[in-house]
Amino acid sequence: MEVGENTAAALEVATTFAELGLAPEILRALDDMGYSIPTPIQKQAIPLVLAGRDLMAQAQTGTGKTAAFALPLLQKMVAHANTSASPARHPVRALVLTPTRELAIQVHESVVDYNKYLPLRSTVVFGGVDMKAQEADLRGGVEILVATPGRLLDHAGSKMVQLSQVQFLVLDEADRMLDMGFMPDLKRILNLLPTKRQTLLFSATFDDSIVGLAKSFLQNPLKVEVARRNTAAELVEQVVHRVREDDKMDALLRVIKAREISQALVFTRTKIAADKLGRRLQKRGVPTGIIHGDKAQVERLAALDGFKQGKVQLLVATDIAARGLDIVDLPCVFNFELPYAAEDYVHRIGRTGRAGASGLAISLVSPEEERLLVAIRKFINRDLVEAPLPEIAPPRPVAPARPVAADVPANVPTDVKQPDVKQPDVKQPDAERQPRMARPRREPVCALLQPPIKPVPPDQAT
Ligand SMILES: Nc1ncnc2c1ncn2[C@@H]1O[C@H](COP(=O)(O)OP(=O)(O)OP(=O)(O)O)[C@@H](O)[C@H]1O
Ligand SMILES: [Mg+2]
Repeated sequence: MEVGENTAAALEVATTFAELGLAPEILRALDDMGYSIPTPIQKQAIPLVLAGRDLMAQAQTGTGKTAAFALPLLQKMVAHANTSASPARHPVRALVLTPTRELAIQVHESVVDYNKYLPLRSTVVFGGVDMKAQEADLRGGVEILVATPGRLLDHAGSKMVQLSQVQFLVLDEADRMLDMGFMPDLKRILNLLPTKRQTLLFSATFDDSIVGLAKSFLQNPLKVEVARRNTAAELVEQVVHRVREDDKMDALLRVIKAREISQALVFTRTKIAADKLGRRLQKRGVPTGIIHGDKAQVERLAALDGFKQGKVQLLVATDIAARGLDIVDLPCVFNFELPYAAEDYVHRIGRTGRAGASGLAISLVSPEEERLLVAIRKFINRDLVEAPLPEIAPPRPVAPARPVAADVPANVPTDVKQPDVKQPDVKQPDAERQPRMARPRREPVCALLQPPIKPVPPDQAT
């Protein structure tokens, strides 16, 4: 049987985590985290995972997919939880693969939070850092392993990890994990796993080619779709400003000033563009971090941490930061350049408007990007509001809602060229918050990694 939208919705019967049949230790951890009710994807996926089914589960960004797979897996492993010191008593039973290192760290942090009252062991392995500390963890034995594919294969190649007892495989951001870039590594990993296992695919986007491909290594999978396929986060206001390529940076600063945006993630398509824009913004006095795949891992983590802690106002990023990252209360995402792949638009803008919060996504679109905009509109199956750049309001004596690392410089231009379109109301993203789920701010990632990360050159990173 295949579960489509309607039948899966009928499964949404449990209204509390306790009714989903989770162990008291897990319920206590959820209570500590302020999770009071399960989200729709959690209500739907948890019973199916507990029932042992393979899943292709799709739900919008920021709606709690991590817990939707992690909680039932922990529940299924409760029977194996033990405090023995023997590594043999802690074989890898659950393997979670993610496309980026930062996401692997984050998913592992969630596992640690959910698992804190159970003696199940977990660790995370990812490239770009020294292998020694990871080897020590693996040697001690872990039931739950979160990994990026390249580094996992390195550890498997040097016999540091045994995957022959894996019962559960999760591909987070599954459509990305199944694309051409990751497929060769994924195939190698699948060859190391038992064929008899439960496999779970989660993402906010799936396309038809992936659906076909995935079925080749899933067994009688169920499909769970919480929203219509490829829907962008509902609470994100999406705006397009038409701007000439050369005017984009001025337009960016102008929007930030006019809307009093305290923090924003700014996406470019290429690493070169990210570096160039980041440096120009820094020269203009805007506290800006830069994150992309050519940076050393320590720099990547420091940039993300600095942003999460509010030390910088802007983080200029490539699509390395588009998927999965959960930056609490991020008010705004800019598409400084539209992505080549339309699905990346959905993931990029999903960094804001998470866990019931509202958000704002602003795309600065040059004439050269018209065809990318057409593809995005088609993919998300809705129109995007086009608006002229906002006017900068006279200063008000009110402090911004969120602590600002530093003010946007006063020399923000007001004369960026734009088509003559009716001026819409400028909304304050922070002012429109819905009732929402409580979320604690996290410790900096760097501080959590013990021993401290030793850099390796980016070209040796996996
Ligand atoms: N039931 C819940 N109650 C309160 N907060 C929750 C609940 N479930 C998840 N959250 C919080 O919601 C945020 C988003 O969760 P998560 O990162 O799992 O979303 P996601 O669906 O995986 O998004 P993405 O598609 O971007 O990866 C996290 O901060 C998480 O702690
Ligand atoms: Mg996620």
